[in-house]
Amino acid sequence: MAVLVTGGAGYIGSHMCWLLEEAGEDLLVIDDFSTGFQWALPDSAKVYEGDVGDQELLAQIFKENDVDAVIHFAGSIIVPESVENPLKYYLNNTAKSRSLIEACVTAGVDKFIFSSTAAVYGDPEVVPVDENAPLKPLSPYGTSKLMTELMLSDVSNAHNFRYTALRYFNVAGADPKGRTGQSTKNATHLIKVACEAALGKRGHLGIFGTDFDTPDGTGLRDYIHVWDLASAHYLALKRLRTGAGSIVMNAGYSDGYSVRQVIDAVKAVSGVDFEVREEPRRAGDSPKVVAQNTRILAELDWKPEYNNLPKIVEHALNWEKKLSLRNSL
Ligand SMILES: NC(=O)c1ccc[n+]([C@@H]2O[C@H](COP(=O)([O-])OP(=O)(O)OC[C@H]3O[C@@H](n4cnc5c(N)ncnc54)[C@H](O)[C@@H]3O)[C@@H](O)[C@H]2O)c1
Repeated sequence: MAVLVTGGAGYIGSHMCWLLEEAGEDLLVIDDFSTGFQWALPDSAKVYEGDVGDQELLAQIFKENDVDAVIHFAGSIIVPESVENPLKYYLNNTAKSRSLIEACVTAGVDKFIFSSTAAVYGDPEVVPVDENAPLKPLSPYGTSKLMTELMLSDVSNAHNFRYTALRYFNVAGADPKGRTGQSTKNATHLIKVACEAALGKRGHLGIFGTDFDTPDGTGLRDYIHVWDLASAHYLALKRLRTGAGSIVMNAGYSDGYSVRQVIDAVKAVSGVDFEVREEPRRAGDSPKVVAQNTRILAELDWKPEYNNLPKIVEHALNWEKKLSLRNSL
């Protein structure tokens, strides 16, 4: 029995693949390498290069392999790009997820884990935000993910199909063993960008908004270590294997750090006092987005190992250094 990871060559997907390999699972990957890298994958992965919306290819994968479950990471993830080009997001995140879900139902693959996002909440009224909060995405990216959640819910009511949607908060850090990390070009994630500034890969770092209603005026976010996130997926898979029902869960630590706190942590861990510029708020940025995580702790018996900002930064920085060496070869 194999696990099919879509988008396995990407940032989060590649960590999932290494974790599944360590767990001794048979591993299949489908990726079009639009933002992912084949070198990020363990050698044991059987890789299908192609589009997650290609139903012929999916049918072939399901025919050639005994697939137990699908973990679906493939998608487009840049919020401002989704505002400029919403149809790209409704195609790649929503329509292609629909094709994948249909291929699963047709092939009788009944376990599905989906990468959702805290962006489905938009600007939450109550923080920490729980799973029952109103769903009011502020961008086509968030809406494209919410639409997939809605499809999954309807399909699980109609067919022999159970899913877990994990709503990730801010994913950060890298594999503690240094095998993979966030390698995306032009990434916008704060910790990665701050590490790039510390290593001189960019001239300065911008803080967008210093007048929010937060303790130091900058945005508050819940940073979850990517390895803890991958282990939450594996526990979610084990839960589905017990026959448990469909569920939606926040994936975060329930701790908020401000942009300034993150920058201070990167400066402290790297020992580099890089330039920081204060810039106006960006449209659509919420002051505080922090997870209520009681459901995932209870349902999965999840015991995060890296809920520690300096540790997250250390792993991200180590990866960024490795990436510089790789790119200079
Ligand atoms: N990074 C975060 O902080 C974050 C937060 C919330 C949710 N998510 C979700 O997690 C998932 C993974 O994000 P990531 O940060 O690893 O992004 P990423 O860009 O590193 O990975 C996406 C992977 O999917 C592949 N891909 C994209 N479209 C595809 C297609 N049509 N067919 C086949 N492969 C395709 C890419 O080549 C890449 O390997 C996404 O669905 C994203 O929306 C990420």
